[in-house]
Amino acid sequence: MKVLFFSPGFPAEMPHFTRGLKQTGATVLGVGDQPEGILPEVARDHLDAYLRVPNLWDGPALLEAIRRWVEPIGGIDRIECLWEPGMLLCAGLREAMGLPGMSVAQTTLFRDKEKMKQALDAAGIRTPHHTSATTEAQCRAAAERIGFPLIIKPIAGAGSADTYRVDGPDDLERVLGLIRHVPEVSVEEFIDAREHTFDTICAGGRILFRNMAWYRPNPLIGRSVQWISPQTVNLKDIWRPELAPGHRLGEAVLEALGFRTGFTHMEWFLKEDGEAVFGEIGARPPGARSVDIMNYTCDTDVYRGWAEAVVHGRLSEPVERKYNAAVIFKRAQGDGRIQRIEGLERLLARIAPHVVCIDLLPIGAPRRNWKQTLISDGYLIVRHPNLEACLEIADRVGTELQLYAAP
Ligand SMILES: Nc1ncnc2c1ncn2[C@@H]1O[C@H](COP(=O)(O)OP(=O)(O)OP(=O)(O)O)[C@@H](O)[C@H]1O
Ligand SMILES: [Mg+2]
Repeated sequence: MKVLFFSPGFPAEMPHFTRGLKQTGATVLGVGDQPEGILPEVARDHLDAYLRVPNLWDGPALLEAIRRWVEPIGGIDRIECLWEPGMLLCAGLREAMGLPGMSVAQTTLFRDKEKMKQALDAAGIRTPHHTSATTEAQCRAAAERIGFPLIIKPIAGAGSADTYRVDGPDDLERVLGLIRHVPEVSVEEFIDAREHTFDTICAGGRILFRNMAWYRPNPLIGRSVQWISPQTVNLKDIWRPELAPGHRLGEAVLEALGFRTGFTHMEWFLKEDGEAVFGEIGARPPGARSVDIMNYTCDTDVYRGWAEAVVHGRLSEPVERKYNAAVIFKRAQGDGRIQRIEGLERLLARIAPHVVCIDLLPIGAPRRNWKQTLISDGYLIVRHPNLEACLEIADRVGTELQLYAAP
C-alpha cells in the first residue's frame, strides 16, 4: 500500500506515526513544507520519499504538485492526515483524487463544532444546549435562552483559545468585547463536571483500541491559571462502572458521525449525577503527549497500532492496560530564561521508580509562552498501577518541583 502522509515532521507526534506506517510495510510518501534537511530523524528514516511544497495550505497547488509527483509510480492508495488544520484540506485531496477515506462532508462534522453537535442532537445524543452566533445580538439572545453560567467559544477552536465562561449579563458584555475578532462562536450551557477523554483507533467502523484519560483540572481552568501544573491522567481501569456512560456516549458518537478508520479523540463530561455529556471530537489523535501516556499505560506502541489499523485493518498484538500514567506540565515562575530547577532531586529520591520520562527545558533556555503551548516549560510522565498512588505522585510533581526564569 502506498500511503501519502501529510506533514510527517510536524507536530511532534507525526514522525512517530510516520515510523508506524513504515513498520507495517507500507510505502510512505511524505508531503510537507519543512525542508527535508530539518525533518526530525525519525521521520526522515521512515519515509520512502518526501515532497517539499512552498505552501502546504494552497489546496489547488498542493493537489497539482502531488498529482505530478505520484504519477510516475502509478498513483497512491491513501492520504492520511493526523493534524487538525490539515484535515479538511486532505479530505479535499482525497475527493479530487478519488481515494478512499474521510470525505469533506464527513470531516466537516469533526471540525465545525456547531455542525458536529447538530448531527449528534439529531441522533439523540446528549450535548450541552447550544447555538451558534455571528453577532452580539445573537449571543445575547442565546444567553437569554440558555441561561447562565454559559460558555462562549469559537466554532473551530483549539487549545481553549477565545473560550470563556460567562457568569451573568455584565460578564457577557465583557466577553463580547474580548471576542470581536472571532467570526462565529458557539454559545453553550456550562457543564459543571469532571472532564475525560474517549480515544479510539478504529478500522472499518470497529473499535480496535480504546482509551480514557482524565484532565486535572478541567482544561479551561488549567489554561487560564498560570501557577497550575495541568495533568492528563491516562486511566488503567477504563471499565470502572462510573465510566460506562462515557463508553456508551463515545460509541454512539462514532456511529452517528459515521467514523470508519483511524484515530479519534473525544472529550466528554462526567457529571456528579453520573450523566455523560458530549464535549467535542476530532478525527485525529490528541496532542500534548497523550499518545505517549497511552503507550506508558499499555507498554505498547499506539503509533504503530494506528498504522496497522489503516494499512491492515487490525492490530498485530492484544493491548493490556497495566498502569495509570500521568503527564504533568510545568510552568516556570518569572519571565525570560530558565535560571534554576528546584526540588527535582528531592522528588526523585522518593518517586524515581515511577517516573518514566523527564523532559524539562534546560537551564538557559527561553521559557515558552504558557498560553500558546500545551507542553508548557516541560513535563514529567509518571505511572503506577494504583490510581490513588498515581494521583498522589502526580500532585507531588505539581507542587514540589519548580522552575524559575528571569530576564
Ligand atoms: N459547555 C461547556 N461546559 C463547561 N466547560 C466547557 C464547555 N465547553 C468548553 N468547556 C471548557 O473549555 C475547554 C475547551 O473547550 P473545547 O474543548 O470545546 O475547545 P478546544 O479549544 O477545541 O479545546 P482543545 O483544548 O481540546 O483544543 C474544555 O476542555 C472545557 O474545560
Ligand atoms: Mg477540547
